[in-house]
Formats: sequence, structure tokens, C-alpha cells
Amino acid sequence: VLCWFYIFPGYRLPRDKEIVEEVLRHGEAWQKNQSGIDLYRKLLTECCDPRRMFAVTKENSPIGKVLWYDGEFYHSHTVNNETYPLFVQDNPLQLPLKKCAVVGNGGILRHSKCGRDIDQADFIMRCNLPPLSKEYVEDVGTRSHLVTANPSIIEKRFQNLLWSRKAFVDSMKVYGSSYIYMPAFSMKPGTDPSLRAYYALADTSSNLTMLFANPEFLRTVGKFWKARGVHARRLSTGLFLVSLALGLCEEVTAYGFWPFSVGLDEQPVSHHYYDNILPYKWFHAMPEEFVQLWHLHKSGTLRMRVGHCP
Ligand code: CDP
Repeated sequence: VLCWFYIFPGYRLPRDKEIVEEVLRHGEAWQKNQSGIDLYRKLLTECCDPRRMFAVTKENSPIGKVLWYDGEFYHSHTVNNETYPLFVQDNPLQLPLKKCAVVGNGGILRHSKCGRDIDQADFIMRCNLPPLSKEYVEDVGTRSHLVTANPSIIEKRFQNLLWSRKAFVDSMKVYGSSYIYMPAFSMKPGTDPSLRAYYALADTSSNLTMLFANPEFLRTVGKFWKARGVHARRLSTGLFLVSLALGLCEEVTAYGFWPFSVGLDEQPVSHHYYDNILPYKWFHAMPEEFVQLWHLHKSGTLRMRVGHCP
């Protein structure tokens, strides 16, 4: 049977119901395809050089380097004496990473019992400082190695770190000694909160290491997916991380990617595993992204877990 994403690559997005039916039809059967994995690592290395470029480093961003914001037109930051010392020397990850788990925040994780599975990975990436409290452990696990933090979270959840930095530093303890990956140079209003988050961690000798996302990397990854039919104004955090993982890891499993309001059992699913706050409507194109991820799942390039874990 010819599938919709072969017939209409990028032209017409199938309705949510069609996608759910397709996933049900295919089931979660998965077979690793090494040549698919090698191909995507090669494609992503050619376009975006994740090993060298995923973070802003002293190596790729010396003093005087102009960082062009990827989420704004004509806005840039020129690396100077104040910002340069905040960058890590070079890519700090021990490469290649073996088994990676990329954990999205989809409500499909709730009651999935995927926590143990996730925790068994060698490198675990999570999005947007997600809650890892006791009630979620069984479903999402406890360990993390890289966690993204959107500057808007610093603003909303921690009052921009203007009053008390303790609440922020304390709430970061659940991420152990992870890298905190912040798009500090993507949108202009995000830079100050990101730098404040850096200082809050540095001043308390936290175990966490701040990594600023390199806007050039984010831009090239955006272009990569645009050429493959993802037409969002901006990619979702989860797809950036999957792209990073495909570039750096020997094997990638993705959890919590399910931007639909019904599950495979036709029961309602909340947007996040911890709440049901929906994103701005036209900002991301998560169902479009899902179609791409499912395509990679079917070709054995990465594994998507959309149901319960054994
Ligand atoms: O900041 P953003 O809206 O991108 O992300 P989020 O809501 O914190 O969720 C993290 C990531 O999980 C998203 O970027 C998506 O890639 C993925 N996600 C999903 O696939 N389905 C959902 N229902 C929710 C999130």
C-alpha cells in the first residue's frame, strides 16, 4: 500500500486521524537500519556539523565573531570580553555517544511506564526543564545528560532571576550534572535571561554546565528540515534535539513525541505529560515534524516509542 507521505511529501499534511491510523496499522515493530543511520549522520554532518557547531564554543566563536540570531532578522551579537569567557572551550561531549534517548514532553508518556527504558540509555536528552518529580518517574525516568532551557522559562517561572536565584538553582538539582542547553542567541529578549541563568549556576558552583545553542547550527538544522517539508516558523525543541542526536549518537530512541489529542487507544491525550497547555498555533508544526520522525522510524534510522514500554 502506498503511504501518504510518499505520495504527498510536503504538499498536503494528512489529518491527525490519518496519522494515528497509519501508526496503528504499522504498529511499533522496528528494525534498525545501519545504512539509514549512517546516511542521516552524513547528511546532518554536511549541512550542520553538529559535532563542532551545536554549542557556542571558544573554538567556533572567538572574540569578534558575529553571531547572527536565528530567530530574528538582522540582529547579531559580537562576541566580546564579557561573553567569550562564558563559552566552553570545545564540544565537551565524549563522542560518539552510544544509545541516546531523546525525550519530548508529549502527554503520551503519561502511564507509558517508559522510565526504566529511558534511564537505560547512555545519553538522555530532555526538553524545556521538564518536571521529573516522583509522580512521573515511572513514565519518564530520572536521569538526564542534556536538558534544554528556553529563556522564556527563566522569565516566566523564575521571574527573570531578578529576585531570588535560589528557587532556580534548587529546581535544577533534579538534572544532576547535565548540560543545560540554552538558545541564548536566538531571540533578542532571550539573551539577558540566558546570561543570568549562566551566572546563577556559576556563582553557586552548581554541577550543571551551561551550553549556549549555536544560532548557526539552529539555522542550518531549520533549513535541513525545511528542505524536507517542515514548514514551521521555527522547529520545535524536540526536533532540534533529535537532529543533534542523529548527528552524534550511534542509536537514537525518541519518546514523548505525539502532537495529537487522541492516543492509539482512541482515548484523549494531554499535550504534555504534566499539563495540557497548548503551544501557539502557528509557531511550530509538530504534526508535520511527526510525519518526518515516523518516516525515520519506518526506515529504521531512529526508533519512536509511541505506546507503552514493556
Ligand atoms: O517548546 P516546545 O513547544 O517546542 O516544546 P514542549 O512543549 O516543551 O515539548 C518538547 C518537545 O516535545 C517539543 O518540542 C516537541 O518536539 C515534542 N512534543 C510532541 O511531539 N508532542 C507533544 N504533544 C508535545 C511535545
